[in-house]
Amino acid sequence: MASSKDKVYRGKLKRAGSLTMKEPPVITNVSGDRVFRLEEFDIIKTIGTGTFGRVSLCRDKVTTSYYAMKILEMADVIKLKQVEHVKNEKTILQQIRHPFIINMVWTTHDDTSLYMLFEYVCGGELFTYLRNAGRFSSIIGSFYAAEVVLALEYLHKKQIVYRDLKPENLLLDRDGHLKLTDFGFAKILNDRTWTLCGTPEYLAPEIIQSKGHNKAVDWWALGILIYEMLSGYPPYFDENPFAIYEKILAGKIEWPRHIDPVAKDLIKKLLVQDRTKRIGNMKNGAEDVKRHRWFKGTIWDDILNKRVKPPLLPYVGSDGDTRNFDNYPEKDQFKRSPLLNTNELESFNGF
Ligand SMILES: Nc1ncnc2c1ncn2[C@@H]1O[C@H](COP(=O)(O)OP(=O)(O)O)[C@@H](O)[C@H]1O
Ligand SMILES: [Mg+2]
Repeated sequence: MASSKDKVYRGKLKRAGSLTMKEPPVITNVSGDRVFRLEEFDIIKTIGTGTFGRVSLCRDKVTTSYYAMKILEMADVIKLKQVEHVKNEKTILQQIRHPFIINMVWTTHDDTSLYMLFEYVCGGELFTYLRNAGRFSSIIGSFYAAEVVLALEYLHKKQIVYRDLKPENLLLDRDGHLKLTDFGFAKILNDRTWTLCGTPEYLAPEIIQSKGHNKAVDWWALGILIYEMLSGYPPYFDENPFAIYEKILAGKIEWPRHIDPVAKDLIKKLLVQDRTKRIGNMKNGAEDVKRHRWFKGTIWDDILNKRVKPPLLPYVGSDGDTRNFDNYPEKDQFKRSPLLNTNELESFNGF
C-alpha cells in the first residue's frame, strides 16, 4: 500500500527542471559521407522541453529516418549564462560512444539558434515508467541501476562528471535499454569544480555547501536514483528547494518498510555525506559499487553487451511514434527569435 508520503510526491507529475546557476569545438557537419543541412529536416513535434530549449522529433527528408533535434535559442543561452555549459555539452558528446549513452549525430547553428541532432530514443523517459508503476521491484531497479553504473564508470574514466542523473534524463530505447541523455551540465574535470547545478532533490551535500565537487556527486545521485526507483519518491523532498537542501544536509532518511535490505545497504553507502568515504569514489572506484551484494546476480559483461533482457518493453507503433512522450505546446512559428549582436554571435563560433 502506498504511504501518504508517497501520495504527496506522486501528485507532483513534473519536477522543476535543472537549476540554472552557473578546446575549441570541431565543426561537425558531416556524418560518414553525408553532409547535413538544416533545410533537410522536417520538425514534426515537440517531445521535451527543458530549462533552455526544446527537443523535437524531426524527420530527415533525404532518408526519411527520424531523429531528435535539441534546439536552443542563443539569446536564452546567453541570458541564462549557459554559454560555457552548452559548449561543454557539445564537446563532451562528441567524445563519447557507449551503449547506454545518447549518440549525437550532428550540430549546427543559424543566426538565432543552436541545433543538436540525436538518434531518436522512442521509449520515453524512465520517469514516466516509474510514475506509472509507482515503484520498481528490486530486480527491475537493479537492472536499470546496472546500466547506469556502466555509463558512469565510462564517463568517469574519461574524467567526465555528469552532474544531472535523474529518471527524466534516462530514456528507454525500443528494446527497453537505457540511454543517458542531457549533457548540459557535464564537465571535463581537472580537479574540482564549483558551479552550482543539478536538480534540487539530487544534489550532493558538497554541492549545496559549495565545497567544490567531483565525480562523487554522480555516485550520490545514483543513491538518490536507486532510492527513488524502489520507493517511488526521492529520500529528500519538499515544495521548497531550500527545505530540500536542509534535509539533504541533515541526512535523515526514512526507509519504507518494503525496501530490500541489501539495496538499502548500497543506498546508505552511496548517500554518505563525506565524499571520501562514499562508495564509487574510493580507491577502487566503480568496482566497489559493481561488487556490492545488491548486484550479486549481475554479470557485468552481459549487461554491457545487452545480453540481459530489459524488464519493461516500451510500446511503440511506427518509427516516428511519440506516444511515450508528453504533449507540449508548440512554439509560435511567427514569433521571431531575438537577433544577436556580432559579439554575442561570435561566442558560438564553431558550434
Ligand atoms: N534523443 C532523444 N530522443 C528522444 N527524446 C529525447 C531525446 N533527447 C531528449 N529527449 C526528451 O527531451 C527532454 C529534454 O531533453 P534534455 O536533453 O534533457 O534537455 P534539458 O537540458 O532541457 O533538460 C528529455 O527529458 C527527453 O524526454
Ligand atoms: Mg534534461
